[in-house]
Amino acid sequence: MLFMIEMENIIKTYQLGEMEVPVLKGINLYVAEGDYISIMGASGSGKSTLMNIIGCLDRPALLLADEPTGALDTQTSQEVMKLFDNLNSQGITIVIITHEPEIAAQTRRKIVMQDGLIVG
Ligand SMILES: Nc1ncnc2c1ncn2[C@@H]1O[C@H](COP(=O)(O)OP(=O)(O)OP(=O)(O)O)[C@@H](O)[C@H]1O
Ligand SMILES: [Mg+2]
Repeated sequence: MLFMIEMENIIKTYQLGEMEVPVLKGINLYVAEGDYISIMGASGSGKSTLMNIIGCLDRPALLLADEPTGALDTQTSQEVMKLFDNLNSQGITIVIITHEPEIAAQTRRKIVMQDGLIVG
């Protein structure tokens, strides 16, 4: 069976100040391609929380930038990188493409590609 969605033991807890609010407590959900499903339940039962996870809206934002500093002078490049650092420290996942080792050195994880493969 080909599933479009396979979720196992999904747990979501909101942090409300010091308090932890468990909302999803171990959900398994399988949705076949082409299926047509309704989700019902009392207000507060977790429907929207679950749907956000299904749609990946629950994840922190992802920023993709293809050579963002490619055509910039050094100072402006550094300003862009400062902005990215700032966004990243707020939880935003960032993937940038660069030819510049100094730019790559400022990211947390470096991936190197060669001839269609990741080599380092
Ligand atoms: N950002 C949040 N921070 C803290 N608690 C939250 C947050 N979002 C939702 N909750 C809590 O999580 C629980 C589930 O909320 P959710 O919005 O998923 O319910 P729902 O089933 O969609 O309800 P409704 O029918 O009212 O739309 C509720 O107790 C709600 O107060
Ligand atoms: Mg809702």
